[in-house]
Amino acid sequence: MSVDELLDEVAADPELSGIYDEARAALEKAGDSAALEDIRVAFLGRKSKLSSLLQGIKELSPQERRRVGRLGNYLKGWLESSLEERGRTLRQREMEKTLAKEQVDVFLPGRLISYGTRHLLSRIIEEIEDIFIGMGYRVVEGPEVELDYYNFEALNTPDWHPSKSPSDTFYLGIPGNDQGDVLLRTHTSPVQIRVMETTPPPLYVIAPGKAFRRDVPDATHSPMFHQVEGLAVDEGISLGDLKGTLEHFAKRMFGAERRVRFRPHFFPFTEPSAEVDVSCNICDGKGCRVCKGTGWLEILGAGMVDPNVFAYVEYDPEEISGFAFGMGVERIALLKYGVPDIRCFFDNDLRLLRQY
Ligand code: PHE
Repeated sequence: MSVDELLDEVAADPELSGIYDEARAALEKAGDSAALEDIRVAFLGRKSKLSSLLQGIKELSPQERRRVGRLGNYLKGWLESSLEERGRTLRQREMEKTLAKEQVDVFLPGRLISYGTRHLLSRIIEEIEDIFIGMGYRVVEGPEVELDYYNFEALNTPDWHPSKSPSDTFYLGIPGNDQGDVLLRTHTSPVQIRVMETTPPPLYVIAPGKAFRRDVPDATHSPMFHQVEGLAVDEGISLGDLKGTLEHFAKRMFGAERRVRFRPHFFPFTEPSAEVDVSCNICDGKGCRVCKGTGWLEILGAGMVDPNVFAYVEYDPEEISGFAFGMGVERIALLKYGVPDIRCFFDNDLRLLRQY
């Protein structure tokens, strides 16, 4: 017997046809899955008409029992599959509605996230670190707020030295302090003392960081600037080692075509001392505002560690010797990238910072 014929028979039965018509109407009306669940309970639940009809089947004559059983079970199956189908349709419709509401254009360009770059000075410091790490150096750091002892005294700097003047150095008046003058370090050299105090030789370290001097800002001066300190202490370290090390550094940093010169100089904590210059790449040595017409830019001070300094940290100058150097990071950046003015680094103009 075909499905149509069975449905015809259901439709012909006064009781079943009622259920069938009602169920069809209800299914048609159902707008969501909650409504479908109500229909399931009403038409297939234990208290539904169909269930009690099938329950009461035993009371019928064998012939009626077979007919009602067959049609009733058919109707039950029809209800179940109709519920399922209707459910599928509704879910599909709901999905389409959500999709229409949440439509996105995947071809729209994304929202641009603007992200910054590392500051040029940070990158130069890393570059310097890389060059010295390549020569076996270790990177260390020290405090920016220092004691007179580390910034001056243990560096063999006499009390009358001009750099100790309050017009050159930022002093911090700390009430109740009994450790001597507290100041913003004027160079990274105090890290030399701090490292030697805590570490026996041999020693190969560089110490990058900020330094502070009461300078009036101009094209080559800033009251806050950066230095990288270097210190090598070992048996038999000579001035030749210093020259070779700095020449290697200058060539790695600026390229083989830049010229380097060593000028005799004085620092209280090195003897002998030198200032090391690199030829100005802005004017190619002809003289300009940045190099103040000299054609050379001072990038670092250096020298052999003074035995008096070793005495402060209880190193034996009969056993070991060493060299030290301190370079200005801003000057190196000016040179390497032709930045016209040191103030460019600190006034936060992204147009400049993004160029490099
Ligand atoms: N500290 C010196 C300065 O700031 C540079 C320097 C460091 C010189 C180490 C010699 C040795 O000018």
